[in-house]
Amino acid sequence: MKKVYLETFGCQMNVSDSERVSTVLARDGFEITSDQLSADVVIINTCSVREKAEHKLYSHVGRLRKKAKLKMPVIGVMGCVAQLEGETLFKKIQGVDFVLGTRAVGRISNAVNETLSGRSGYLDVGEREDDYDWTVADTHRHSPYVAFLPIIEGCNKFCTYCIVPFSRGRERSLTASDIVRQVLELRRNGVKEVHLIGQNVNSYRPQTDSGLEQFAGKSAFSRLLRAVAATGIERVKFTTSFPRDFRDDIVDAIDEHENLCNWVHLPVQSGSNKVLKAMKRGHTIEKYLAKIDRIKASPRDIALTTDIIVGFPGETEPDFLDTVKMVEYCGFDMAYMFKYSPRPETPAYEMSDDVSPAEKTLRFMELERAQKHSQDRQLQKYLNKVLKVLPETASSRSDSGLTGHSTCHKIVNFEGSNEMLGQIVDVRITEIKTNSLFGEVIK
Ligand code: SAH
Ligand code: SF4
Ligand code: F3S
Repeated sequence: MKKVYLETFGCQMNVSDSERVSTVLARDGFEITSDQLSADVVIINTCSVREKAEHKLYSHVGRLRKKAKLKMPVIGVMGCVAQLEGETLFKKIQGVDFVLGTRAVGRISNAVNETLSGRSGYLDVGEREDDYDWTVADTHRHSPYVAFLPIIEGCNKFCTYCIVPFSRGRERSLTASDIVRQVLELRRNGVKEVHLIGQNVNSYRPQTDSGLEQFAGKSAFSRLLRAVAATGIERVKFTTSFPRDFRDDIVDAIDEHENLCNWVHLPVQSGSNKVLKAMKRGHTIEKYLAKIDRIKASPRDIALTTDIIVGFPGETEPDFLDTVKMVEYCGFDMAYMFKYSPRPETPAYEMSDDVSPAEKTLRFMELERAQKHSQDRQLQKYLNKVLKVLPETASSRSDSGLTGHSTCHKIVNFEGSNEMLGQIVDVRITEIKTNSLFGEVIK
């Protein structure tokens, strides 16, 4: 049996694609291994959202070449770098044997088999098969209790800095009946939490509305949320939400269904209208804050997280200070912050990258401080609170510790036994750390 090792970089979409790829490969007679050095085939699932992410591919192959002294494995590249670079990857990186684009993941076995039987330079950046099966990989999920379920792929938004519309293609939504069927199946198989995922999950727009007619809500996504809630699965989370398409009916659905979790990830990118316009985000800061206000007015106590870019072309000090002010106003439980990274082929690449690297670093650090300050204050509200936690793994830090997530998507560590894994427990929070909470199970 040939052994395959899979390395995954990037977002949940890539994690989900990797899960599907391992399931398909296992079905087709390969062994999935966690030991890279003994693998006959190494597949690297790549991300190209920032330059740094793309470099991970190059350094990974470099390290592999150093370590694999006796026998170099077959090396395959999939994901966003594969899609964007295509054939040029063979020239750019010595040792790459096949390249498989983001819509060709279903044909992974073909790529591996052809390469193992001696074909060189196998390239597939074609479209999905018409009957492509989106079904959640059953045997190779990252957790037995939590499943990522892609409901929409691709992106039509073309924010000026972003490579994703080019690497993932146009938006395509799965039908509601397919989604509901899959959630029911996951539930039967013991999954407690499903994450509906998509680059812009709330831009969900299936070709037909069938299966959603009886549910309330203006947008298809809010009706889908209610349909998924009605399956009775214990928890539903969804990410990422696109602000322009985030309507009140989504919050209404959360308010009315306990199993729709109290967490919203709503990337703002900047606090300055001038910068938002140059980014072509399609929302003003006023509109964004109105959505935040609606979310905060929910009796469900919804946790908020976001993404922010500093140093976008043309961002002045006052623009940046608007971002700091916005962060202080919103009270995010967590923010992913990035320095702007010019991506070839995107519209912003043509703009002058006029915020110096030193200035980007200064702004990044100042924003980090502001967010940390706001976050510390924000997270205090969890102290002594009882959160419902799904223990997912034994903690890496202690022998009797468990780690899981709350409904508000906090990482929670606590003492407990392995029998608790996969069973939702009440945990009283006793300590707040920067990226996690600590607590004790209450009987
Ligand atoms: N679809 C999501 C984001 C997907 S990319 C959305 O619209 O919010 C994840 C995050 O990476 C983005 O939210 C953005 O903050 C960051 N990002 C994307 N392109 C970037 C670039 N060129 N430079 C720096 N950060 C970038
Ligand atoms: Fe990129 Fe914008 Fe699409 Fe998000 S919405 S993936 S930031 S283009
Ligand atoms: Fe990266 Fe592609 Fe996801 S560029 S963030 S892996 S869609």
